[in-house]
Amino acid sequence: MVTDQPWDVPADVLVIPFAAPPTFDGPLDELDRRAAGELRALATFRELTGKRLETSLASPGELPAGRLLVVGIGDPTTLDREGVVHVAASAERRLGGRHVRTMAVWLSPLADATGLDGGAALAAELVARGVVEGSYDPKSIYKASPDAHPGHDPAGRGDWGTIAAPPLVEELILIVPGGDAKAVHAGAERGRIIGEGANLARGLANRAANDVSPVVLADEASAIAARHGLWIDVIEPERATKLGMGMFMAVGRGSDNPPRMIVMRSGGEGERDALDRHLAIIGKGVCFDSGGISIKPADRMEEMKMDKTGACTVIAAIATVAQLAPGTPLLAVAPAVENMPGPHSTRPGDIVTALNGKTVDITNTDAEGRLILGDAMTYAEQLGATHLVDVATLTGAVSRALGHMVTGAFGTPQDFYDTVAAAGRRAGERYWQLPLVDDYVPEMDSWYADLQNSGSSEGSLVKSGLFLREFATKPWVHLDIAGTAYFRKATSFAARGATGASHATLVELALAGAR
Ligand code: BES
Ligand code: MN
Ligand code: ZN
Repeated sequence: MVTDQPWDVPADVLVIPFAAPPTFDGPLDELDRRAAGELRALATFRELTGKRLETSLASPGELPAGRLLVVGIGDPTTLDREGVVHVAASAERRLGGRHVRTMAVWLSPLADATGLDGGAALAAELVARGVVEGSYDPKSIYKASPDAHPGHDPAGRGDWGTIAAPPLVEELILIVPGGDAKAVHAGAERGRIIGEGANLARGLANRAANDVSPVVLADEASAIAARHGLWIDVIEPERATKLGMGMFMAVGRGSDNPPRMIVMRSGGEGERDALDRHLAIIGKGVCFDSGGISIKPADRMEEMKMDKTGACTVIAAIATVAQLAPGTPLLAVAPAVENMPGPHSTRPGDIVTALNGKTVDITNTDAEGRLILGDAMTYAEQLGATHLVDVATLTGAVSRALGHMVTGAFGTPQDFYDTVAAAGRRAGERYWQLPLVDDYVPEMDSWYADLQNSGSSEGSLVKSGLFLREFATKPWVHLDIAGTAYFRKATSFAARGATGASHATLVELALAGAR
């Protein structure tokens, strides 16, 4: 963090946020003058338009930076928090494969953007988070050298120096002429920690199902808990059965890889936060969803290793909260299972008793997320939760309705929904509220049991919410990240694969109760 002018800062790359339409006045005019007119020339050439997330490398002229990276921010009046994270992530990703050790970002055009209304410290947080999130690339999980061509290794990290993966920037310099250095530094630290938390969730979510079974996910959670001083309890099948988690076990029993109910906590048992809540975040952890006996078609079934993303998100989020505000009361519950067909699997029409005592007719074994979440929600309440938020890749319907940039959400009562939505806005994440239509409740009735887990296809998205509501007696919000949890192709700001969606929202929501 420096309070110099952008033309005084040496770095391998100087990132210049650039609005549309381009206007060369004030510091931008000075930057252009010192860059020997390069920016104006590129704008005339139409290489530089300022269009949001568009990037161009430019030569520095007499500036002390090795290269200039101009990144479009579009219309500054519409630049929101998500926009700033994406601008920074796009800059980082644009440098994929390049040798960058120090990166300087001129914050002023972002901090001053009228769409943002938060100033330099907020801009610093979002930029640091964006750079960290932009640096994530899942290719590193199973490939030593993601791109085949060999080469030398200027950065000294094995093949990483020569691949097209985003650079591991060693030093991020944030330039705010006349800024409050302390506040900007604190903002950047917060952004770095939130970004790293999202990347932790992504790293787990992207791993293959033959690598991350429920037991392995529980082991990963235990390691994370140990690292951050969190309490953890991992419930094995015998105990889950004894406790009465009939819906959770109905899904988990079908696989050779046994299920685990992962429970993590910061703060004391049942302890209330500053908002008098004992907040529980609950994440769907289906390590692989074949559909079970109601088996899915083969097309895209490989994506169903991502069905554990909600669990990965809550595990990472509680670790992030533990770093930002240690001791903040927070409970995370992650039911982890593999949904498989086999001789021990639940059959369509099987009737089980949920932890809350309701009997459930499992008419479709592919509607498994709501089963494991229902018991996890009841268990969270038994452990003293006063507010529940679940996050789950629950329905294909939500991604058909809202796509991959907006998470569908349900909740009741409305004021708790509004609280979660506000946390989402602070986090720079988009949600769209879906209705809990009481008229459809009878369609979830069963001839044999209190309810069935899957009704007809009309309004099936709404019905998924209605089913979950049966297992909440406290204020509850459900975030369906089936569309937003992972990208099928890379964007300028994110690699293909897990996105970390909802991690920042959960963190903001929990931190509102920090003392
Ligand atoms: N995990 C799936 C939902 C999903 C589908 C997530 C595609 C991401 C991409 C979930 O368990 C599921 O199978 N849902 C069914 C529900 C139906 C059986 C009521 C669905 O969406 O078809
Ligand atoms: Mn399913
Ligand atoms: Zn599923």
